[in-house]
Amino acid sequence: MSTELQAELQTAVERRRNFAIISHPDAGKTTLTEKLLLYGGAIHEAGAVKARRSQRHATSDWMAMEQQRGISITSTVLQFEYQNCQINLLDTPGHQDFSEDTYRTLAAADNAVMLIDAAKGLEPQTRKLFEVCKLRSLPIFTFVNKLDRPGRSPLELLDEIEQELGLQTYAVNWPIGMGDLFQGVYDRRSQQIHLFERSQHGSREAIDTAIDLGDPRIESLLEQGLYHQFKDELELIEGAGSELDLEAVHQGKMTPVFFGSAMTNFGVELFLDAFLDYALKPGNHESNQGEIEPTYPEFSGFVFKLQANMDPKHRDRVAFVRVCSGKFEKDMTVNLARTGKTVRLSRPQKLFAQDREVIDEAYPGDVIGLNNPGVFAIGDTIYNGQKLEYEGIPCFSPELFAYLRNPNPSKFKQFRKGVSELREEGAVQIMYSADEAKRDPILAAVGQLQFEVVQFRLQNEYGVETTVEWLPYTVARWVDGGWEALQKVGRIFNTLTVKDSWERPVLLFRNEWNCQQLQSDHPELKLNSIAPVVS
Ligand code: G4P
Repeated sequence: MSTELQAELQTAVERRRNFAIISHPDAGKTTLTEKLLLYGGAIHEAGAVKARRSQRHATSDWMAMEQQRGISITSTVLQFEYQNCQINLLDTPGHQDFSEDTYRTLAAADNAVMLIDAAKGLEPQTRKLFEVCKLRSLPIFTFVNKLDRPGRSPLELLDEIEQELGLQTYAVNWPIGMGDLFQGVYDRRSQQIHLFERSQHGSREAIDTAIDLGDPRIESLLEQGLYHQFKDELELIEGAGSELDLEAVHQGKMTPVFFGSAMTNFGVELFLDAFLDYALKPGNHESNQGEIEPTYPEFSGFVFKLQANMDPKHRDRVAFVRVCSGKFEKDMTVNLARTGKTVRLSRPQKLFAQDREVIDEAYPGDVIGLNNPGVFAIGDTIYNGQKLEYEGIPCFSPELFAYLRNPNPSKFKQFRKGVSELREEGAVQIMYSADEAKRDPILAAVGQLQFEVVQFRLQNEYGVETTVEWLPYTVARWVDGGWEALQKVGRIFNTLTVKDSWERPVLLFRNEWNCQQLQSDHPELKLNSIAPVVS
């Protein structure tokens, strides 16, 4: 390989960091994202992202919604520069937008930032997303937000993370006071106290006064009670003796923890600085040819998300590709591992929020959007050089289920075709009842929005009007050992047995409790909440 290309790739990897934020709605993801972009110079005034978001939610009509949202119904990628590093923030949708794409995005991330509301601690959506990160052993950086409001004690929050998630914690900074008494944070890296000054809703970078821990002014600057409390807590965490172990962080076993307030912009810069130092750079990816290094000279990557354009006049699909190795160049011709075909990648896009911008090149750790209608499926590998295939993307546990019905028999063919194509594209999971007499497909999804998308597209693209009949289940488990293992157990109560698109048995439960009940009655039965990848 040319040493020039080698050096170029090496430099590109060194300066790239890629991450996704995992959080529960309202923890402050939009606010934090915005503040990160502010520091990265990608926006100049806070409010831009937010304004767009409220605009987005104000309308409920599908088409209007899509036009407003552009491509942002599902995740987009925000790219910004900070201290000569290129940061790629894979934006995972929240709220109403929650869908399998949120999980899939984590397959393209090298790091995750777990954002927690200090008053609420761990919340359901954060826990679910954490499970997916754990599966991939992603390094997790914790940002405890909203310190300017009354919240739970920092020690209690760390304890919750350790106990519930089994993650060791290392507090990189420590808050002094909270709520109205929030006075700042102590940065253990520099051994300095950063004093918090309330600014106007943090629309600019915060004014940050840093003083050394040994500075005699501290006692007079901090409120007495708080100063002593802080000293005690600091003694406690330093006395506990755990060191920051970067190897453990990179294996997803230890989480560096930061405290701050995204809204008032406090602690965001300290977080970003430490994140650049500690985060994993784009690394190797497992393939059927072994581990592929990012500096491997041939271009390769995988599709982790497909985004359909809701406008029937432009039936294009954007395939989001995570670049794993080599250099991507516009108009490049690549091989598609699944079909063996070659594809010319003619309209690559870089994505900044809703705005599409054509790009000329991309490097490992980057995400590109490709406009190739109908060519790609979720999990596809594209490559040059020797044939290789990356591990696919698993099916994640759906939580909403409904029979999808086509009341018009003359549309049967279109219905079948539409359902099958939307499934292949990853818009929704399709299951069938194990009872052969019930032939209607069961839509299985992580979020409500997925159903709306499927029905809307069946009507617009295939001309089929459908109805849904909800099923009263919320938990799906794949059975290890397949039908054979299931038969050994005999009759099971309080579940519905269905099969997925690969004819594998899946048990649907009304709730978590019923699932646990079955597990305690039949400990020999191994149930998985995430389906193994079909190769
Ligand atoms: P999300 O994307 O995770 O759903 O959360 P988002 O950033 O929209 O924040 C949810 C609410 O929490 C917002 O209030 C936001 O202003 C507030 N918030 C975010 N970070 C902080 C923080 O550090 N401190 C405090 N006190 N509040 C924070 P809202 O009332 O829904 O919106 P707005 O009226 O502030 O725009």
